[in-house]
Amino acid sequence: MRPPEHQRAVAAAICGIGSYLPERVLTNADLEQLVDTSDEWIVSRTGIRERHIVAEGEATSDMAAAASRVALERAGVSASDLDLIIVATSTPDMAFPATACLVQTKIGASCAAYDLNAACTGFIYALDAACAAIESGRARTVLVAGSDALSTIVDFADRSTCVLFGDGAGAVVVCAAGEPGILSTVLGADGAGADLLKVPGGGSASPATCESVAAREVSIRMNGPEVFKFAVRAVPKAARAALKAAHLTIEDLAWLVPHQANQRIMDAAAEKLHVPAERVFSNVAGVGNTSCASIPVALDDLYTSGRLAPGMALVLVGFGAGLTWGATALRWIMPAPARKG
Ligand code: UT7
Repeated sequence: MRPPEHQRAVAAAICGIGSYLPERVLTNADLEQLVDTSDEWIVSRTGIRERHIVAEGEATSDMAAAASRVALERAGVSASDLDLIIVATSTPDMAFPATACLVQTKIGASCAAYDLNAACTGFIYALDAACAAIESGRARTVLVAGSDALSTIVDFADRSTCVLFGDGAGAVVVCAAGEPGILSTVLGADGAGADLLKVPGGGSASPATCESVAAREVSIRMNGPEVFKFAVRAVPKAARAALKAAHLTIEDLAWLVPHQANQRIMDAAAEKLHVPAERVFSNVAGVGNTSCASIPVALDDLYTSGRLAPGMALVLVGFGAGLTWGATALRWIMPAPARKG
């Protein structure tokens, strides 16, 4: 848990946001051709109707760079002004170098850069690392990108997972600010739940071999119902803790922006928190679960559709493999985008 506001000499705030979704769309009807599933099953169990999928040759760093360029432009910050780039991802372009280094060169920055893996909670973890760097005076301007191409590690023969995930990226520029935008963050992890959601092969524990690739061990394996139960417990608990640490109540909350994994998880969390459904943002129908990109893509949707105004209190809340979870309470400081036409 970060120190309370009054103990921080410098505050951090989101001063730019952007997102990117690949052009290609995979609908539930397309998936009906691949596995024994139905649009009815997918919509009723998850709320997902379609998701975006990377083009051949399009990598996590390409998506992160595209989202980052938009975030930098909206922040009025040049890439050369960045002190640090953090990319949250579970699908790096390659084992090394870090995807953040590839993003750095693609956007023309020259600062320190590293990747962070907290699975689908990665964006919340990375945002906290950015705040810590700013509040400690080690950095003034940090780019945080959440980018994942989960379609590259999904087993398209496993109907219980392949219908859930999509690709995309979201990015924010976090700046040293006069007043705190980011008010509180709570993070958690429980490695005892590591087996519930993982890619078992391809790492040092079980390097990729012809056999392991053939057995699809380099793809996502998930115990869906157990992850579901965990999420329904973790999301309200983390959101409540972040609100409390920021001295806010549910009534103060303009938007709850949860990790977009499953509409039923979001509905259950809203019910437990007593947040009216219209204040819980969801775009899962059109993007599916984009892992590290999910929260910043959702936030960018809110921003570009003119539903965020300066001073609004938001809670971003995520959960994922690890198991990991985390929530951030913040005050939005960016003015609404100018209306076109
Ligand atoms: O970022 C974090 C990522 N993970 C999550 O958020 C996942 C959390 N879990 C979930 O969202 C849900 O558990 C799922 C959507 C994955 C599954 O929903 P469920 O209501 O928990 O279904 P289930 O796994 O208990 O399966 C119910 C039935 C099973 O058939 P039987 O055994 O009852 O005959 C499955 O085989 O549904 C079957 N099933 C499907 N049927 C049609 C599983 N996947 C599909 C499918 N289409 N795609």
